[in-house]
Amino acid sequence: MSTRNILLASLLIALSGCQPKVPKEYAAKATEWQLADRTGCFMCHQTGKNLLGPSWENVAERYRNNPDAEAHLMNKIANGGSGAWINREMPGYPESLLTEVNRKVLVDFILSM
Ligand code: HEC
Repeated sequence: MSTRNILLASLLIALSGCQPKVPKEYAAKATEWQLADRTGCFMCHQTGKNLLGPSWENVAERYRNNPDAEAHLMNKIANGGSGAWINREMPGYPESLLTEVNRKVLVDFILSM
């Protein structure tokens, strides 16, 4: 690699570091990812493994083929609660923190995993 290419490559890495990192496998859902990131969901949730909250892949797996999944999760994110996975509280997100439209975007995103 020429010096110029190395400089260019480092510049690109530096620039991409300024944006919330979207994992490659979710590149097609970058908008949804960034919404979750902005809202702070990733403080407690991670893809691929359980953090404080369950990994969203596990959530999708559990509710696959469940016709009430969307309604249940819409409600859970709005009001919070515990006991479905662990004895820890998921915080509620009222309209002022997450609009209903965006709540649905996140529920659909999670269920699509
Ligand atoms: C402070 C930590 C924390 C944050 C922040 C958080 N969660 Fe959770 N989440 C949890 C915990 C703990 C649970 C498990 C609750 C349970 O066992 O019922 C959970 C569970 C869930 C579930 C599964 C609910 C169920 O009933 O199966 C979904 C979906 C979810 N979270 C989505 C989100 C979304 C979307 C956000 C951001 C808007 C978010 N979480 C932010 C801690 C958090």
